[in-house]
Amino acid sequence: MPLPFSPGAAAVTPQQPGALGTGRVPLTPRPYDTGRPSGTGRAHGKVILLGEHAVVYGAPAVAVPLPDLSCTVTVAVNAEPADGLGCYTPFTIPAHGAVPSADGVLPPGLCLLIDTALRRARRFDIPAMEVQVESDIPYGRGLGSSAAVARALTYALGQLLPLDLSAAEVFDYVQISESAAHGRASGIDALATGSTRPVLLSDRHPSTPPVAAEAWIVVADSGSPGHTKQAVAMLGAAFGEHALRREKFLARSTSLTCRALRALEQGQLEVLGRQLTDCHTLLADLQLSTGCVNALVDTALAHGALGAKMTGGGLGGCVIALTDTAAAASFLAARLDENGAAQTWTAPIKPGRSA
Ligand code: PMV
Repeated sequence: MPLPFSPGAAAVTPQQPGALGTGRVPLTPRPYDTGRPSGTGRAHGKVILLGEHAVVYGAPAVAVPLPDLSCTVTVAVNAEPADGLGCYTPFTIPAHGAVPSADGVLPPGLCLLIDTALRRARRFDIPAMEVQVESDIPYGRGLGSSAAVARALTYALGQLLPLDLSAAEVFDYVQISESAAHGRASGIDALATGSTRPVLLSDRHPSTPPVAAEAWIVVADSGSPGHTKQAVAMLGAAFGEHALRREKFLARSTSLTCRALRALEQGQLEVLGRQLTDCHTLLADLQLSTGCVNALVDTALAHGALGAKMTGGGLGGCVIALTDTAAAASFLAARLDENGAAQTWTAPIKPGRSA
């Protein structure tokens, strides 16, 4: 079965912001007029099971979709540019908003994405655009918020303009925004936020790993934002000075991920759990974890998790813990809630064949 995505082909050339003046002029929020041309797209969150950071250098990583944490983006043509400038205005941002934009300003990566889509569609007639983001995915927690918004926005623009985008082109559009957000984005978030199955990214090649037995992931938010861009830059600088350190990290991460993939394929959840915990140690040794994140990992392990680790870029953000049943996941989520987690979620890893 073909993958629901495949990066690389049909590269989209990002344009510099400015097609519409990239106007970052906030407009007063208001409901869409009925009949105004609009488009809507949807995507979901993700967690990285293991292999984060190493995947930036081509080593394997596995991500799992979080279908219950989703975001919807609606774009609409605005006939009245503010002060003659084009503008993109998010006018619905929930409390845990996906876009860090209290003042109605879209992040530069999303503006670049919109500009690229407008140029590709040759829609120089659109004077301005309003962008509505509604998201359950907390921002800056390593749960794929930025990639999910970019993916949903790409689908919405594809519908509005219209653009007949292939899966590879959607990936490229998401990566325009992700590269601006992360500095050096591997593409795993861009892929996992659009996949219903786990995603393996290895040597920049995506596939669907086989899963023999259902497992459950508990996600616990430490309450502090992660700092992916900073963490990626920090490792880049450290590895630039110590190539041997980088090689050792990549070898260890690859070995843990390969063992985890075998365990997933054979339904050996205890073995899988041990790889997660060892991966946490590896990442924590690189100073990517925090006291709160370590405490949540310890709490999860003390209450029966098969394994636990930080997830995503780190320096804050979330912890994931592995269990073998939905009941064990609920129990664990409750213990994490009692012991300092700001929020928790549970998600299954469903059995399925490779693709
Ligand atoms: O967006 P986050 O925090 O889940 O981090 C993505 C994972 C990294 O490996 C740190 C970066 C990347 O692009 O793969």
